[in-house]
Amino acid sequence: KRLILIGPPGSGKGTQSPIIKDEYCLCHLATGDMLRAAVAAKTPLGIKAKEAMNKGELVSDDLVVGIIDEAMKKPSCQKGFILDGFPRTVTQAQKLDEMLAKQGANVDKVLNFAIDDAILEERITGRWIHSASGRTYHTKFAPPKSPGVDDVTGEPLIQRKDDTAEVLKSRLEAFHRQTEPVIDYYSKKGLVVNLPAEKPPKEVTVEVQKALS
Ligand code: AP5
Ligand code: ZN
Repeated sequence: KRLILIGPPGSGKGTQSPIIKDEYCLCHLATGDMLRAAVAAKTPLGIKAKEAMNKGELVSDDLVVGIIDEAMKKPSCQKGFILDGFPRTVTQAQKLDEMLAKQGANVDKVLNFAIDDAILEERITGRWIHSASGRTYHTKFAPPKSPGVDDVTGEPLIQRKDDTAEVLKSRLEAFHRQTEPVIDYYSKKGLVVNLPAEKPPKEVTVEVQKALS
């Protein structure tokens, strides 16, 4: 399967991705995770992306299309993939269609994490992540076994630099202005399934499984 997850910041894309990935043996390509790794490693890509990310704006289409093009060549991504956080503009969606067309492939389904903006601030400001694995926790909704520490490795959890109420406003604006048209783009192709993303995580997982069965 070739799946796309679309939704505003904090809607649960990164929370559901590992579950879908394990169930369907897909590769999980999250442009946000890849960009954060590049920023941390101070690579040329990271240096170019950092400022936009800290402001909650989108990184240029060329940069992210390049990352995805490269990542999709991995052997583990040939059978299928989950795109989490890409495409986020109509241009990115068109480029993706072109890349897939070259392989005689196409997008199978787009899961739209539908949720009211009002719920997202609490989700974003309470989020803690284990940066090496991408595992995500929430102080209230998904607390780690011991506070501030990753369940699996025992390593410390961190907060994302863009996870403030202030930066969230810009991220939401970017979502409504630049990414919502992508949902229309795929709706016209009949590929979109709307998920009630405000439900508790386990219930959202059940909805995802229904959408994919
Ligand atoms: P990215 O990393 O993609 O961030 P985002 O889209 O803002 O999404 P989030 O990761 O914040 O949300 P999520 O849906 O994964 O939420 P999660 O599951 O963690 O992008 C970051 C930046 O990179 C962008 O701003 C941009 O600058 C750049 N970028 C990335 N891709 C780009 C692209 N294609 N083009 C241009 N620029 C790009 O959940 C959030 C919290 O809520 C967690 O704490 C979780 O535990 C909790 N939670 C999850 N589900 C539930 C639930 N059902 N109930 C209660 N709590 C829940
Ligand atoms: Zn995410």
